[in-house]
Amino acid sequence: MVKVLIGVAWPYANGTIHLGHMAGSLLPPDIFSRYNRLCGNEVMMVGGSDQHGTPITVTAEKEGVTPEAVADRYHAINKKAIEDMGIEYSLYTKTHTQNHFEVVQDMFLKLKEHGYLTTKQTNQYYCPKCDRFLPDRYVEGVCPECGAEKVRGDQCDSCGKTFEPGDLKDSYCINCGTHPEIRETEHFFLRLSAFNDRLLDYLKDKDWWRPNVRSFTTNWLKDGLHDRAITRDMDWGVPIPLEGWDSKVIYVWFDAVIGYLSASKEYSKLIGRPDYWKEFWMDPEVKHYYFLGKDNIPFHSIIWPSILMGYGGLNLPYDIPANEYLMFKGGKLSKSRGGAIDIPSVLERYDADVIRFYLSAVMPDTHDSEFTWDDFQTKVNTELVANLGNYCHRCLSFTKKNFGCVPEGAIQKDVEDAISAAFEEYRGYMASCDFKKAIKVVLDLSHFGNRCFDAAKPWALVKTDKDACGRALYGNLAIVKALAIMMWPFMPKASQRIWGYLGQEGTPEDAGYDAIGTAPVAGTPLPDPVPAFSKVEIPKEQEPEPEKKEEKEVTVIGGPYADFRRLDIRAATITSVEDHPDAEKLYLLKVDVGEERQIVAGLKAYYTKEQMLNRRVLCLVNLKPAKLRGQRSEGMLLAADDEEIGGSTVLLLKPSADVPNGTRFGCGLEGSSSRIEYKDFQKAVMKVASYKGGKVAVDGGLAVEGEGIPERVAVVVDGGEAIALSDGNGCYATVESPITDGAGVR
Ligand code: MF3
Ligand code: ZN
Repeated sequence: MVKVLIGVAWPYANGTIHLGHMAGSLLPPDIFSRYNRLCGNEVMMVGGSDQHGTPITVTAEKEGVTPEAVADRYHAINKKAIEDMGIEYSLYTKTHTQNHFEVVQDMFLKLKEHGYLTTKQTNQYYCPKCDRFLPDRYVEGVCPECGAEKVRGDQCDSCGKTFEPGDLKDSYCINCGTHPEIRETEHFFLRLSAFNDRLLDYLKDKDWWRPNVRSFTTNWLKDGLHDRAITRDMDWGVPIPLEGWDSKVIYVWFDAVIGYLSASKEYSKLIGRPDYWKEFWMDPEVKHYYFLGKDNIPFHSIIWPSILMGYGGLNLPYDIPANEYLMFKGGKLSKSRGGAIDIPSVLERYDADVIRFYLSAVMPDTHDSEFTWDDFQTKVNTELVANLGNYCHRCLSFTKKNFGCVPEGAIQKDVEDAISAAFEEYRGYMASCDFKKAIKVVLDLSHFGNRCFDAAKPWALVKTDKDACGRALYGNLAIVKALAIMMWPFMPKASQRIWGYLGQEGTPEDAGYDAIGTAPVAGTPLPDPVPAFSKVEIPKEQEPEPEKKEEKEVTVIGGPYADFRRLDIRAATITSVEDHPDAEKLYLLKVDVGEERQIVAGLKAYYTKEQMLNRRVLCLVNLKPAKLRGQRSEGMLLAADDEEIGGSTVLLLKPSADVPNGTRFGCGLEGSSSRIEYKDFQKAVMKVASYKGGKVAVDGGLAVEGEGIPERVAVVVDGGEAIALSDGNGCYATVESPITDGAGVR
């Protein structure tokens, strides 16, 4: 069997992944992996959260928590978001693990032994005010090459230039704004210069690489490679495995790329075949593909190959299909550019397959591409719903209604040709990672199918010549079957459903591409089909909210529990529960929070209507109103959820005593009621813990004490402290049933 190793760039565990990560580096490898699996190839797909580096320590310092807390929080959020998007890794791990430390340290020591590491005194930015060395991201300034402003200390995102300390113009410490000094410090360097010729040689035959990847890489090599520091003055990272180097760690980029190998080893251990990774890394026939955004190119096309060459005996990257950027409102799609584009909030509104479809259709593979919600709506509604989804559904439902099973027939010659031509073309694009072109072929085949269906007029034929009608449908079912298989890499869930409506057993993956070109066996009973996709609405919440007259001045809150104190949480009662008219999973609620509010809630999996009605709850009331599938939602019910820590329980919070609706719950410190956004809510950390022996023990050794605290209570956490969530008068936020201690509140 052909084996393929797929490496997926490791998102930093420093924020929630968004559509840019999906389109750039996470979705393409999943499409490619599924393509390979349909070909019958054996895939190992590895990656995880990049947990080291200064972006994380910067966040941790801002929040007053440990870097590990930040890194593990986002690891859990992103791991779940990735799974919810249907992205299937062999293993999605993280870099702050013992296994990873060992693999990185082994690499480090081998490279040193082989003479590829040296130590040097170097200059480093040093902030006299903060009294410490400043890692790359703690320094910003003007790029000496292209003049871009607010550029980081190590690399310019605009022109790609990398810097040595001192190169930046008008530099300042991001913590305090002071102009940093340059001081001497000793570091290990990777002797990249030793690999120059071997890299040129390695690149020589790589004419299948994308032009952007080739040119980025050749440009780097042209100037001759400089040795690069691979240690840093900080304490968050992989420890240097040598005496006397305690105040420094291995540089995040050196450790992260090695993650591909450490994850392969970890996966092999997990499945009980500790040497399995060798089959992928030591057999030169196995091709290694790395998927990433363009800012990651040199790390994968130069540094990682150099490390591998220096270590010896392991496969080098075969292809590095790096994507350009997905742009949003004229800039690189990012958290700050607004719009709820983080994956968990997008998934609240749309099915994973719909998002996967759109991102595949606008994939920024050779050029930056523009993301807009309008275009999202247009492409989904016209191509996915009206073309592909509708074609499959009309074939399936018409056949089901009139025949009940797959009718007798033979595939018409033109249909057979169309399927095989489409598949040939599609396969070529998939093999070369041209996914945008491949999905276009799928849509074109569906257009062809629609024309066949219309031309055959089965609705008329069924009355005059039922056998001829059956024969026409037979060919159409062959097209639907081909479509279901070809769309599996892009939209696995919808593909699986259509597969089932075709009366097929198992999964499209079991059947593989070999099953393309045949119709389902005549006589196969057909179940009742449901359309695979439904139309989407432009998210109205993207439009500015009409200003409320009595909107207060925004209060800026600082100090302890600052993030939490911006939440206005009230005791409330659910007064009415209905099904959301346009979303299967959602309830439409009326809630009395002292005044009546309409709220859309995704709690159907956990509570029946009867259980919801008249329930006492706690409601976040100052969240910016949003439309969810067309219905206005003016708040959010707080619930404890232990999924991130491995559970599967969701429980609504409620007041422990009979306080009036509208009673505010807080942490005993002054709070604000200004409008907040969902992402502000996510910043506050709340957990549920058990009250035992006169104390509530929260994880990390935090404890809460107080009078009359119920057995299970929600607490607000900030850095090293926790406070029970209460009305300040002995009424606490609690849950009815047991839930794993440490469950988050959302
Ligand atoms: N964390 C990096 C980023 O988001 C990517 C690291 S990919 C690696 O840009 F695996 F090479 F580390
Ligand atoms: Zn400073």
